[in-house]
Amino acid sequence: MSFTLDEKYPNLYKIVEKELAGFTGHTLDHIERVWKTAMKIAAANPEVDLEVLQIAILMHDIAGMKEETDNTGKTDHAVLGAEITAKILKELKYPEPLIKEVKHCIQTHRYRSSNEPKSIEAKILFDADKIDVLGAIGVARSFMIAGDIHESLYSFTPLKEYIADNLVGGKPDGRIKDVSKHTPNLEFETKIVKIPDKLFTDKGKEIAGVRIKFMQAFFAELKNEINADI
Ligand SMILES: [Fe+2]
Ligand SMILES: [Fe+2]
Repeated sequence: MSFTLDEKYPNLYKIVEKELAGFTGHTLDHIERVWKTAMKIAAANPEVDLEVLQIAILMHDIAGMKEETDNTGKTDHAVLGAEITAKILKELKYPEPLIKEVKHCIQTHRYRSSNEPKSIEAKILFDADKIDVLGAIGVARSFMIAGDIHESLYSFTPLKEYIADNLVGGKPDGRIKDVSKHTPNLEFETKIVKIPDKLFTDKGKEIAGVRIKFMQAFFAELKNEINADI
């Protein structure tokens, strides 16, 4: 790909840039990384509609800031983002079938959503988006978040005990009760390690598998160093 998203879709890019300003979760850097990973996955799936995929990538977190600032917790940025994007694309006179496809991709990109991606473009966006919390990037992002909310560097609490004590319902996917007890290694062990199984494309699973291995090695080394077992 010789162009970047801001060159190919300058109007849409400017809208996204404005909407994501100040948003802690998903910056334009994230969009750019998702795009690069998605293009790798797309290369292994020649039937992909690149126009649909690229517009969906660019717009997928457009409602992220709205979800983050909604204290009622009712805003789902995937659902709202799909609506906002459809409206913008309509105004810019994009064809109706493309709008429908893009909308499906955005609606279904969320990890927790029960709304499954059905089209190949939606599956690629889903996979590329999740891959962005894996590998060295995943480690870096998890420590950035940990620093922001004053988590500890590492927790030695056994996984079973932690899940029972600090996750709602005593389930690995339960909401965290007390963030001060949470750490990147616990985030990795309770949630991130399961991501490769949830992906849809073969190429996505392959990339995710490599990145999970790196994270396992990283957290094992971190534990060793904290224990001075080196
Ligand atoms: Fe998202
Ligand atoms: Fe995202």
